[in-house]
Amino acid sequence: MNLYKDKQIRKGSKFPQNTIRGILLPKIKIRILLRGEHNMCGVVGYIGEKQVAPILIEGLSKLEYRGYDSAGVAILDGTEIKVRKYKGRMSILEEHLKEENIKGTLGIGHTRWATHGEPSDRNSHPHTNCSGSIALIHNGIIENYMKLKEWLIEINGDHFKSETDSEVIAHLIDYFYEGDLLDAVYKAIDKMEGAYAIGVICKDEPDKIIAVRKDSPLIVGIGENENFIASDIPALLKYTRNMYLIENDEVVLLTKDGIKIFNELRQIVKREVLKVTWDAQAAEKEGYTHFMMKEINEQPKGVHDTLHRRLDKEGNIVLDGIKITKEDLEKINKIYIVACGTAYHAGLVGKYAIEKFAKIPVEIDIASEFRYRDPFIDENTLFIAVSQSGETLDTLAALREAKRKGARILSIVNVVGSSVSRESDDVFYTWAGPEIAVASTKAYTTQLVSMYLVALHMAVTKGMLTDVQYKTYMEELKAIPEKIKKILGNTEKIQQLADAQFNNENVFYIGRGVDVAVAYEGSLKLKEISYIHSEAIAAGELKHGTIALVEQDRLIVALATQDKLYDKMLSNIQEVRARGAYVIAVAKEGNKEIEKVADKVIYIPDTLDELTPILSVIPLQIFSYYIAVARGCDVDKPKNLAKSVTVE
Ligand code: G6P
Repeated sequence: MNLYKDKQIRKGSKFPQNTIRGILLPKIKIRILLRGEHNMCGVVGYIGEKQVAPILIEGLSKLEYRGYDSAGVAILDGTEIKVRKYKGRMSILEEHLKEENIKGTLGIGHTRWATHGEPSDRNSHPHTNCSGSIALIHNGIIENYMKLKEWLIEINGDHFKSETDSEVIAHLIDYFYEGDLLDAVYKAIDKMEGAYAIGVICKDEPDKIIAVRKDSPLIVGIGENENFIASDIPALLKYTRNMYLIENDEVVLLTKDGIKIFNELRQIVKREVLKVTWDAQAAEKEGYTHFMMKEINEQPKGVHDTLHRRLDKEGNIVLDGIKITKEDLEKINKIYIVACGTAYHAGLVGKYAIEKFAKIPVEIDIASEFRYRDPFIDENTLFIAVSQSGETLDTLAALREAKRKGARILSIVNVVGSSVSRESDDVFYTWAGPEIAVASTKAYTTQLVSMYLVALHMAVTKGMLTDVQYKTYMEELKAIPEKIKKILGNTEKIQQLADAQFNNENVFYIGRGVDVAVAYEGSLKLKEISYIHSEAIAAGELKHGTIALVEQDRLIVALATQDKLYDKMLSNIQEVRARGAYVIAVAKEGNKEIEKVADKVIYIPDTLDELTPILSVIPLQIFSYYIAVARGCDVDKPKNLAKSVTVE
């Protein structure tokens, strides 16, 4: 049934166009972010012979890291599409589904993270058309949804049940539906502006799922007599290791025993099967209470793998994914490192390493700032994007801006086949394995190793390091995994400190040189999972303002790992202690003097000054973790945060 068609004819209403004072504008040019419901959620879908409800729940549980305000499913139970969706964690949905036991072998599911529009049952996905014959899940944002919604209301009255942009898609597909879902979806997406990964099912075509990707991640899982869609690989690993990575503007038709991928022009495109080799276990907790602690403990392996996969038999760096030659490097006169969150903090260390080893000027910027500040870029610019997920919208947008202006793009990414990696000229994959906890740990340390390797590779290619220097750095890097293990084997003291300090509401992290970068990361770890206000500041800046906030028992975490700045840090620690601060210092083993000025000292194994960040961050991660546990916080899913930020 198509409610819209008749009304349109009756009222003669025209499809809304983008116009300014009556002048028709090309669709693509208008990309204004309208205030509506923007989501960066997880989508999953199944068609096959098995009962779909448990498969959707399993998939969603692996995607909950993408958002966890609400969750829902739509299942075709033979006669009708049953939609069940609830505000809150996925366990609520799971309980309802267990009770109700809806039968069906075709379904779609969604986990939501709302940035606009409250989390509520009715704003949750799936959304349906008026009659409930079409159900849809969506990750992304429909930028022109207001116009579309107004227009749909004009011709048919207000049948909208939610405040979301996503619901508009269901109504739009309904508007175009004339017995061919694929055709209706094509016509609908032609009118939509924005980013979307969508999955659609229709009661009248019970043998198919239609999925579309534009700027939001989407993969297809290939099974036997069953096929899947999802936002991310872990959602499907229990069922299949054979995947298709769907490209922008592609539409997929999934049946029980077939997958057809079409391009914008409705032509069939061929895609190679991606065989996922990493372990499904990698996305499980394996006895740890939280993913975060599991991932902290996986750092020796992540660092080892990231490093050793890039070394030849002689121990020299071979960066297969990076094709930058000596001539290319000589032309590069400026490097921008751009990223968000923890990846940005890894970039801070990267700037330090590249400038120090390769002697190339590096600017570092937060992606959301970079993309709007009109930075000077030309074909002699190298742009380095750092991203765990490879899907962070701001990082991707900054990358595209740099590319448009002629820069060469190198990315350091964890997720194979992610958008950032696909749009880069050169890719350096971190080998962290899937990171599930929202607070990034192993992605950070593997990003650091990657940064060091890229910097050393550039330095060697440019002839900036002697053999001896190069070998010294490499030997030290190779020793890092064992040193991380040593810290991880002795965490009792850190836990005790956390248990004693968890009641603080304000904490400062200070350091000098590369320690400042680690201070930023330590501070972020604390605030994101424990909700304690914390700030990081270069120790030398303290007396220009922040020291005014130092009072009796104010907790200050002081990083003092840099030999050449050690004495200066001791002075800074004394300054804050003199004002009553309680100081926990992080220093290299053997530096006993610090015990005289700090209240407590956490030691890390000795290493070269340049490499200390990979070690000094570990106790800070553990400290934050135990503080969050002591405060009863939801460590893996902190409030208001999401793992993959695919909105602006
Ligand atoms: C979110 C995550 C952070 C992450 C940042 C950048 O804020 O919670 O852990 O550092 O996004 O993500 P990316 O995937 O680009 O590294």
